[in-house]
Amino acid sequence: MAENDYARHRLHSLLGVVPVGLFLVVHLTVNYQAIHGAGAFNQAASLMESLPYLLFLEIVLIYLPILFHAIYGVYIAFTATNNVGNFGFFRNWMFILQRYTGLFLVIFIAWHVWETRVAMALGTPLNFDMMANILSNPWMIAFYIVGILSAVFHFSNGLWSFCVHWGILVSPRSQKIGTYVSAVIFVLLGYVGISALFAFVS
Ligand code: HEM
Repeated sequence: MAENDYARHRLHSLLGVVPVGLFLVVHLTVNYQAIHGAGAFNQAASLMESLPYLLFLEIVLIYLPILFHAIYGVYIAFTATNNVGNFGFFRNWMFILQRYTGLFLVIFIAWHVWETRVAMALGTPLNFDMMANILSNPWMIAFYIVGILSAVFHFSNGLWSFCVHWGILVSPRSQKIGTYVSAVIFVLLGYVGISALFAFVS
């Protein structure tokens, strides 16, 4: 791998966790407030919206990092070769799923940003009713379930490969423990994300 490629790969990996992964955790946690009712969700959402320099913060901390991660991710997804010999059947499948969920997330995130953040910039208030309205369509519920589970899988499995790439999980034993930890993160975050989603469905 050329030196530039190596640096880009490292940056892609780091941005997947900080800030993009961290943002995903905060985002799902704010949404989870919806299980306490519309008032609780609206209060949490307006707290986020009241942050000073919101658009600047969103561009620097969310849009640019996710754009870099997504564009380079698409490049990796179409150029990477599978490594059955080195990592075995299970890890190879996880890597394939990592790439497919990444590709699906490009579509899901673009759609989601369009119908929430762009709609808000065009004048629709971003609140409980906006999501309840979007999720009044059963196809949208299905699309959001697949989107949320893809993001949560991609993040939790990505944490594992991040730890391997950065030399945090080196021995086969620690990598095995890492697999269990990432499975627990998947279940917990998946629960938070999906129960938040159904809180908007009446
Ligand atoms: C919710 C948004 C996303 C989050 C939280 C996220 C997070 C992560 C994390 C933590 C990793 C592991 C980094 C590593 O292996 O060292 C990763 C890897 C990856 N991501 Fe994402 N990502 C997101 C969106 C995307 C999108 C939209 C794509 C577009 C295809 C993508 C493609 C990839 C690919 C191909 C890898 C594997 C890289 C490798 O193992 O070499 N990701 N992501």
